[in-house]
Amino acid sequence: MRFTIHTYGCQMNVRDSEAVAAMLAANGHAAAASEDDADIVIVNSCSVRGKAEDKALGKLGLLCATKRDRPGRIVGLMGCMAQRLGEGIFKRIPLLDFSAGTRRCCAIPRLIARVMAGETNIHDVSRPDDMPDVSDAHCGEGFSAFITILLGCNRRCAYCIVPDVRGPEYSRPAAEVIAEITALARHGVCEVTLLGQSVMRYGIANAVWPDGAASPGGLTEPFPRLLEVVAAIPGITRIRFTSGHPSGCTAELARAMRLFPNICHHLHLPVQSGSDRILKLMRRGYTRADYLAAVRRLREAMPDFALTTDVIVGFPGETVADFEDTRTLMDEAGFDNAFIFKYSPRPGTPAAAMKDDVPAAEKMRRNQLLLADQDTRGEALNQRLVGSTQEVLVEGPSLRNGKRWAGRSPGNKIVVFDPPDGLRPGTLAHVRITRAAPQTLYGEMMGN
Ligand code: 5AD
Ligand code: SF4
Repeated sequence: MRFTIHTYGCQMNVRDSEAVAAMLAANGHAAAASEDDADIVIVNSCSVRGKAEDKALGKLGLLCATKRDRPGRIVGLMGCMAQRLGEGIFKRIPLLDFSAGTRRCCAIPRLIARVMAGETNIHDVSRPDDMPDVSDAHCGEGFSAFITILLGCNRRCAYCIVPDVRGPEYSRPAAEVIAEITALARHGVCEVTLLGQSVMRYGIANAVWPDGAASPGGLTEPFPRLLEVVAAIPGITRIRFTSGHPSGCTAELARAMRLFPNICHHLHLPVQSGSDRILKLMRRGYTRADYLAAVRRLREAMPDFALTTDVIVGFPGETVADFEDTRTLMDEAGFDNAFIFKYSPRPGTPAAAMKDDVPAAEKMRRNQLLLADQDTRGEALNQRLVGSTQEVLVEGPSLRNGKRWAGRSPGNKIVVFDPPDGLRPGTLAHVRITRAAPQTLYGEMMGN
């Protein structure tokens, strides 16, 4: 049967969708050319904000309506919302054939076989003590790959649904991660992004290294040690990891990032707020000063370090003064890019018991202000790169203008340039920057 997967949410979901696609292909199914053409449609859902769930529910409703004209079409759900709603999903979407929770990706081919044999409304969500089943299956195309190294999250930030839907932390054994990346590198992958909700907690909740394994660089913390080994895998020219937490920005991490030339000098380090009072209510486990100290540690090790972040506006009790603290923090930290979110209460989280007292219009105003600030800041920071030469991993035709090509700098900035004949995606090119916009750099390719 021909399948397609519709993915919402973060890179973790993108990776899970890819693994499911690879497993379905291994089970005799084939990727459909378009959604219309698909006999199996799977929605991979996100629960992080109410809106994300509404979108997935709307999509599922439309897909199930198409079953009337297409008997035999299979519609399934996976991901965070499947985990959160459990069997309750069939009350909302009665024609849904299956729903698989966050740690149940590997079961999906079997669930589809059961639906093909006549069952429907099958639900398979994980329990917190289930051993996670992580697939190392990849689709075998492309030069860049996501690798899940840490599942779940043990932090309990007051606003966040992730610990409920993705379970407690589980770090995959280092040998498994290394084998997966080595195999990918043999198939032409040159860039890997190591994924975890709080990725620097890798190897802390459960052991990942065989006893006595030595680190040539003398690194002792599990995550920097993993970086060191991945950096030595032949063919891997770029390593990224996401997302960070200030507590993981140790001197040792900074040393590892400086030491190995293939580790990109970029980190996505969500700050969420610049107000100590709100950070405490959010239970983030750091103060504004701690956050800025973490950033300083990284900048001291890497003068070309690029920093991106997430911010929530309108958390319960956030006053105009708290919001102004966020604005000044964003200037002090000098973010290259920032994703701004309006607070959305999530059922069962500690913050859901607090009064959602910032009016929607005020959340919107704060959101717009931070976006405008970030545009100015982003452009000013990018202007400083005009005249520099950036090493760009070439991705292909630019989204806006297909004649020009785009790629990413080590700092994760999009760089647009005119490609010479015969340029191939996956090439490392040198591009001299001639012009800067808030989110994009433009330049001329000098060579590779
Ligand atoms: N409301 C709004 N934004 C949220 N995020 C997480 N939970 C919520 C919520 N309840 C944001 C955080 C996180 C990003 C992935 O989504 O900023 O870093
Ligand atoms: Fe959404 Fe969070 Fe789940 Fe990612 S982990 S899909 S951001 S709820």
